[in-house]
Amino acid sequence: MIAARLHAFGDVLSIEPLDLRMPAPDEVQLEMIAAPVNPADLNIIEGTYGRLPDLPATPGNEGVGRIAILGAEITHLQCGDLVAPLDPGSWCSRRNVRADRVIPLPAGIDVHQAAMLAINPPTAYALLHDFALLETGDWILQNAANSGVGRCVIQLAHRLGLRTLNVVRRAELAAELQALGADRVVTEDVDLRRDGAALMDGAEARLALNAVGGASALNVANALAPGSPLVTYGAMGRQPLKIPNGLLIFRGLNFHGFWLRRWFDTKPAAEQQRIFGLLAGMCLDGSLRVPIHRVFPLRELHAALREAAAEGRGGKVLLDPRSA
Ligand SMILES: NC(=O)c1ccc[n+]([C@@H]2O[C@H](COP(=O)([O-])OP(=O)(O)OC[C@H]3O[C@@H](n4cnc5c(N)ncnc54)[C@H](OP(=O)(O)O)[C@@H]3O)[C@@H](O)[C@H]2O)c1
Repeated sequence: MIAARLHAFGDVLSIEPLDLRMPAPDEVQLEMIAAPVNPADLNIIEGTYGRLPDLPATPGNEGVGRIAILGAEITHLQCGDLVAPLDPGSWCSRRNVRADRVIPLPAGIDVHQAAMLAINPPTAYALLHDFALLETGDWILQNAANSGVGRCVIQLAHRLGLRTLNVVRRAELAAELQALGADRVVTEDVDLRRDGAALMDGAEARLALNAVGGASALNVANALAPGSPLVTYGAMGRQPLKIPNGLLIFRGLNFHGFWLRRWFDTKPAAEQQRIFGLLAGMCLDGSLRVPIHRVFPLRELHAALREAAAEGRGGKVLLDPRSA
């Protein structure tokens, strides 16, 4: 098998041939099909992420593969099944994973969408369900709305009957996001303290989702109803949150952080499976989808990483270990 290998944080990755042992009794061996390059992967490579692997390591926090070999104890999965591993190490052509650490996927699912199922869709689900008691017709607000998470939020919120006010950096994305179910799309220069209520038909938002930080986070906080939460789950702008005291004292806003890793550690396994079942079903029927910017062969990893780090992409960059 071949794998991308990181030997030092901030260093250039190499593609290396590696020996792979047979799977242990509680493992399956996967032939990998595709894996995305997410912002967290880039942060891990540069050594700035919240949890870093022991080195050398194979990056790739999610992906999709087909079961090639079953461990001796595995009876609930079959060779040929399509699964998404939950643990890092997916930028490779083959890997062993514990059978209880994969999401079984329905036959017929689009493999590229399936490769992006394990992180952004459950993040969007948790952001919408775990921080506010929302009712049909309520407004939610988010920045980086054209990101993978942002698009999942739009599609899940639309399904739940919630309305979304979406902040993006590029005005030309409005029609694309409206086609997914976005109610309003505005650019970052719109002052939501002044214009938020008009954009939300006179209402104030019940939940704000922040993946940028800095002035962008304050802008969405300014259009929240008193007592509502702002949840920070990303820091694409790399600027800290600066919250005026009045938003805490007079408007009683609540500020939270979300990390999927913590969610995995605290959500009961049966509940995780139920949520992944719902999300996989939406991928299968096409109601949950994220655009793909480009699929690179794994051997073109460096070009793929450059493209993934660039601003203004048209969707996710994926790696395919099968192509030459
Ligand atoms: N906390 C968690 O558990 C968790 C889980 C999943 C994701 N995340 C985080 O969520 C964020 C989005 O992830 P993703 O996979 O959805 O991202 P993605 O699909 O790669 O999209 C990145 C987004 O960030 C925007 N962006 C980049 N630099 C920016 C800046 N300086 N100011 C404002 N916007 C900027 C991009 O806008 P353009 O298209 O205009 O360039 C794009 O909308 C990342 O920070 C990621 O680490 C966190």
